[in-house]
Amino acid sequence: MSEQRRFFSHDTLERNVGWLIIATIAAISVAGLVQIVPLFFQHSTTEPSPGIEPYSALRLAGRDIYQREGCLGCHSQQIRTLRSEVERYGPYSLAGESVFDHPFLWGSKRTGPDLARVGGRYSDDWHRIHLRNPRDVVPESNMPAYPYLQKPAAADTIASHMTAMRRLGVPYTDEQIANASKELEGKTEEDALIAYLQGLGVNRRYIIVDEVVAK
Ligand code: HEC
Repeated sequence: MSEQRRFFSHDTLERNVGWLIIATIAAISVAGLVQIVPLFFQHSTTEPSPGIEPYSALRLAGRDIYQREGCLGCHSQQIRTLRSEVERYGPYSLAGESVFDHPFLWGSKRTGPDLARVGGRYSDDWHRIHLRNPRDVVPESNMPAYPYLQKPAAADTIASHMTAMRRLGVPYTDEQIANASKELEGKTEEDALIAYLQGLGVNRRYIIVDEVVAK
């Protein structure tokens, strides 16, 4: 090592906390931008995956209840590329499956199982019993009961919700928005939540099966 201390050397950086902080922030920022910026332009992250469509009014209302009740606190909706996850839950999640999700509900906590592909796994009746009292179908469950969702779904606000979604880029037609409150007529919050759950991941699951069958 030369005696002379060069300005851009580890030696200088490590003896000068100010520079170390600035250089660390610069390094992390560049690395972060290199990872994040392309995601705004790649089709695989900005375009819907095959079979992914905007939520129907009923399912959108169910999604609201999922958020309101904090299901996200115990359930993730993202299957990682690990073999153990794919074998347990199904094909791993793709960014293009979440393009109509505002906000996305990927979550990070799994007190209960991942729900990204729970659609079609159980009957509507099973969900009804499970939501009203999980212990009736899974005796050891520590999931809270949601017996109070049998009130009417919020039909009066769904059209404005869909309009807001359209501003965020979800391609709802005027007709879909006009018919939204009618779709919720006579439905309970529980119906909406179950419709939401029953749609989770089904499109993608069938597409993967088709691809495998095609081979
Ligand atoms: C305190 C944590 C907790 C919260 C909050 C919670 N759950 Fe659960 N959930 C669990 C656990 C644990 C299980 C596994 C046992 C069982 O099936 O009841 C589970 C299971 C499930 C299952 C079955 C999944 C499968 O693949 O078998 C569904 C569907 C589900 N929860 C939906 C919901 C919904 C919808 C909400 C919000 C209304 C919710 N959960 C809130 C903990 C939670």
